[in-house]
Amino acid sequence: MNEFKRHRRLRTSAAMRALVRETQLSTDDLIYPIFVIEGENVRREVPSMPGVYQVSLEHLSEEMDKLVELGIRSVLLFGIPKEKDEQGTQAYCETGIVQQALRKIKQEFPELITIADTCLCEYTSHGHCGVIHDGDVDNDASLPLHVETAISQAKAGADIIAPSNMMDGFVAAIREGLDNAGFKHIPIMSYAVKYASAYYGPFRDAADSTPQFGDRKTYQMDPSNRMEAFREAASDMEEGADFLIVKPAMSYLDIMREVKDRFNAPLVAYNVSGEYSMVKAAAQNGWINERELVMEKLTSMKRAGADLIVTYFAKDVAKWLKEE
Ligand code: PBG
Ligand code: ZN
Repeated sequence: MNEFKRHRRLRTSAAMRALVRETQLSTDDLIYPIFVIEGENVRREVPSMPGVYQVSLEHLSEEMDKLVELGIRSVLLFGIPKEKDEQGTQAYCETGIVQQALRKIKQEFPELITIADTCLCEYTSHGHCGVIHDGDVDNDASLPLHVETAISQAKAGADIIAPSNMMDGFVAAIREGLDNAGFKHIPIMSYAVKYASAYYGPFRDAADSTPQFGDRKTYQMDPSNRMEAFREAASDMEEGADFLIVKPAMSYLDIMREVKDRFNAPLVAYNVSGEYSMVKAAAQNGWINERELVMEKLTSMKRAGADLIVTYFAKDVAKWLKEE
């Protein structure tokens, strides 16, 4: 009788499994999102995101200390301003909360990579990612404000600009703006493939950025579409994106794999808020093993082609990796 293939030979021990493991998760892959809020002495847990906090400037150093200790080397900054208006002025104000946070982090932790999320939704009274004309987001009128935001973030010390607004032409506009302002060396991490997703719910609590009317479906992508993702990624690459983000992660691993195979750029998976909260809720009920589940999820993102992962689990994962 012909002997059949004995796959189990390569699974006989932990050492054997490590020897043939195809995908490695490393602390260097992790980007930790931080919500910086304007105000005094705030450290408020986001109700829908246990373990995630809005922190004011005084608490930033302790947050950063923890990250550095765990070996995490990059952070993604979101700001929650005191005042919002129609134009999202606080997004591109020199004394805006993110600009202040960037200056403080760069001064105290110069070796940390600071990534600035470039959008208006946390800063506009209507909660949309651009300015509103005739009831909808006006693409071309919004671009100069995104450019101004990116430049002010670069001036404040951002190492990477991450525009998440999903306007057409935003990468080209921001690239040109940065170049002309003397920031040719600052890379753009584009939220190139961003779906209009129900998984963003908890983030909108955390960032106080829920649209006050309508939704984001005229600028974020339809979850039904695959080819459209390649058109989005292709235009961003042409316009000068240095990194491509696919977001959310778990429901879009197919898209991630294809974007990785088609485009030659570091690929970032954004493991979004809803994905985090679902795990937390199930873990709190004792329904799943949080550590094993999170490691499996993040490993699957890497297996799907992600080089980097933005995740609210970054601190836990860094700790677990140290223990392994
Ligand atoms: C907004 C923005 C969103 C996220 C990051 N920047 C989502 C949105 O409200 O459209 C989502 C992050 C998350 O859910 O973790 N520009
Ligand atoms: Zn936005």
